[in-house]
Amino acid sequence: MKIVEGPSSPELGRRVAEALGLELVESTAKRFPDGEFYFRYMEPLSGEELLIVQSLYPPQDEHLLELLAMIHAARDLGVSNITLFVPYLAYSRQDERYLEGECLTSDLVRQLLEDVGADALYTVDVHSMKVLRRYRIPAHNLTAAGELARYFAEKGLRDPLVLAPDDEEMARQRVRYAAEVIDAEYDCLRKERDRYTGEIKTYAKELSVEGRDVIIIDDIISTGRTTANAARILKELGAARIYAGVTHLLLRGNALELIKSAGVEEVVGTDSVPGDLSRVSVAPLIAEALEP
Ligand code: R5P
Repeated sequence: MKIVEGPSSPELGRRVAEALGLELVESTAKRFPDGEFYFRYMEPLSGEELLIVQSLYPPQDEHLLELLAMIHAARDLGVSNITLFVPYLAYSRQDERYLEGECLTSDLVRQLLEDVGADALYTVDVHSMKVLRRYRIPAHNLTAAGELARYFAEKGLRDPLVLAPDDEEMARQRVRYAAEVIDAEYDCLRKERDRYTGEIKTYAKELSVEGRDVIIIDDIISTGRTTANAARILKELGAARIYAGVTHLLLRGNALELIKSAGVEEVVGTDSVPGDLSRVSVAPLIAEALEP
């Protein structure tokens, strides 16, 4: 198998190549003056198996088109098998038709990736398994929740609790797993989102967190409101230090400020979205999944 890194994930591509002990395929990616994308594989690939590494964080649509171009070219050039590693699978929050007439955008992404020629997909902490269940090609979810929890546990925590800021299926699974990895307790809050305004409401509940450290584990921070709501509830209940370990740090607008002012001491994410706070790598996850 050979590996190629897409324009959104050059560092991650190199880390995955290193973790799997494989060489990166040389490629050229650029934008024309009018903004159109250009991509070229710089070596013959006929008959090869290829792993494409490209995360779909913002600008999602540009990164998606880049990925489609890479798959299309690989297929055209005779690659025998194309596996995608797309740690942040954009549009996965649109996992259902919540309001009549809506585009099921997660399924549009599925159709595009499959139709252009992908043979398998690996992603990390997908928002909902409903998205992956619609794929006809093998589609796998990996989790960084354990490593994120371990990052904070290594600081030495006081009787930690791992908390999900909502109680959806995947959120519950993630905290259960993270808590197991660091041998801690876990719990979930309940959150509701207004499908028209996007406003979210998090419900307070009895949690025995007084004097304890808490790690909030989630898949995404976008506006920061979900994490900030949870942190405010925890502070009111007397939690000591509050940390947030979140796989995909999209951090739009003043998200970080909002979260910090709600009492979160440190936010850490993965290199699914490159940035200063992306201290945990998802490369070992895909390496472990693909190693024979
Ligand atoms: C949604 O339920 C997800 O699991 C995240 O909690 C959510 O997407 C975070 O979004 P925001 O930071 O905008 O509240």
